[in-house]
Amino acid sequence: MDPEQAAHWSPRKKRPRQRSASVASAPHDIRFQDLVLFILEKKMGSTRRAFLMELARRKGFRVENELSDSVTHIVAENNSGSDVMKWLQGQNIQASSELELLDVSWLIECMGAGKPVEMTGRHQLVVNRDYSPTPVSSLNKIPPLAVQKISQYACKRRTTLNNCNHIFTDAFDILAENCEFRENEASCVEFMRAASVLKSLPFPIISVKDTEGIPWLGGKVKCVIEEIIEDGESSEVKALLNDERYKSFKLFTSVFGVGLKTAERWFRMGFRTLSTVKLDKSLTFTRMQKAGFLHYEDLVSCVTRAEAEAVSVLVQQAVVAFLPDALVSMTGGFRRGKKIGHDVDFLITSPEATEEEEQQLLHKVTNFWEQKGLLLYCDHVESTFEKCKLPSRKVDALDHFQKCFLILKLYRERVDSVQSSQQEGKGWKAIRVDLVMCPYECRAFALLGWTGSRQFERDLRRYATHERKMILDNHALYDKTKRVFLKAESEEEIFAHLGLEYIEPLERNA
Ligand code: CTP
Ligand code: MN
Ligand code: MN
Repeated sequence: MDPEQAAHWSPRKKRPRQRSASVASAPHDIRFQDLVLFILEKKMGSTRRAFLMELARRKGFRVENELSDSVTHIVAENNSGSDVMKWLQGQNIQASSELELLDVSWLIECMGAGKPVEMTGRHQLVVNRDYSPTPVSSLNKIPPLAVQKISQYACKRRTTLNNCNHIFTDAFDILAENCEFRENEASCVEFMRAASVLKSLPFPIISVKDTEGIPWLGGKVKCVIEEIIEDGESSEVKALLNDERYKSFKLFTSVFGVGLKTAERWFRMGFRTLSTVKLDKSLTFTRMQKAGFLHYEDLVSCVTRAEAEAVSVLVQQAVVAFLPDALVSMTGGFRRGKKIGHDVDFLITSPEATEEEEQQLLHKVTNFWEQKGLLLYCDHVESTFEKCKLPSRKVDALDHFQKCFLILKLYRERVDSVQSSQQEGKGWKAIRVDLVMCPYECRAFALLGWTGSRQFERDLRRYATHERKMILDNHALYDKTKRVFLKAESEEEIFAHLGLEYIEPLERNA
């Protein structure tokens, strides 16, 4: 196409279809009039392109042999949005903002469904922010394709559970965990940020070029990404999965009540398995660790959503029996839409309760379960909350609310709606439950803080401090410039105080 022609991009007269090598292309009825597809040959190859074109036409799609301005959807394989834009630019074509740039996965799903399927972030090719299309022709008044900018803050990104970069994020989660085990905080943060930003991307990283303009993907992180793209795996991660220290720390910290210090001690003493630790007469265990060992199998098998819902019913019933106006919200990973979790978290608050009633509630609830034989472990932490105290500046500071860390006995019939007649095993499962009680005025801050994810919370606080001169924690938001506490009745109001777009819990899986 010569530049003059391309700038005006006039529709072409239909030429007879080219015949592909093996498939005869008979004319097909067009069933989906609104879509006009063009399949990019670059990196796909002509044979595969011809095959996909024929297949799509047979399914009733209109597919053009050449790019014309009637095309609505460009389908590409192994190309990023920026690659496609560059190709278009090379052809002297400026894309209109309505043109869809899609990965071949979308077309393949359409073929499976026999009709156009919804285009989601997974399918849409994103053009990096540093891609600045050079204007081709002053005659062309169509605005360029929207250029997306990815924030360095997780609280300015929408991160659903739809992660299309698992291959990378799994690696960075392991690398971050190893740094945590080695108490190398700087590298730990570096890897966690990389995993977090990758989880938010609506497209899979296919080439190193795709990482351009995305924050936190430089240096060491970039080398790991490069290696995974080239070899399909990271040699460092592979080595870690066989590393004595990593394996032992992972195993030891999987016991409820075992933290880094204990894991380190057991490792230095030469222990490598849980059975040898348990049998050793010289070791003493905390009450928490004893419970952890006793219920180990149940606690390592994750909590399902059905189990979480059953626990929710138990909590709700017990709480309102003592404080009828109390509000109970499930927080943590389940509120973010996760299907499994390591525990179930609840936030409890009451608009009417006196301070004494508020302080008594968690004790009454756990006593009640104890009497019913449902309490397998209980650790109460009393409130150290002081009104008007400035929020904590520390990104990972613990809050001051009254709470209890529990292990509850959940009977299987509470989970399965139809009670099975032949119950296997013991008929119940030990479940970790966290209950938090907060003053009514703090409920929005507490809900935001206990919904997570941890990375999302860290970045909310970092954002408040660095971008707004405010201090945020699980209790309050303080404006340092105005020297006032900013009140909030809902999470939406907290985001608004911070000048942030509201991010739904389902989009906080950073
Ligand atoms: N949290 C907190 N203070 C604590 C413990 C937790 O503020 N002492 C917050 C964290 O922000 C965390 C949320 O409560 O995101 C839930 O914690 P946790 O249960 O550890 O994590 P989940 O995100 O629920 O993940 P999982 O499914 O593993 O339970
Ligand atoms: Mn949780
Ligand atoms: Mn928890």
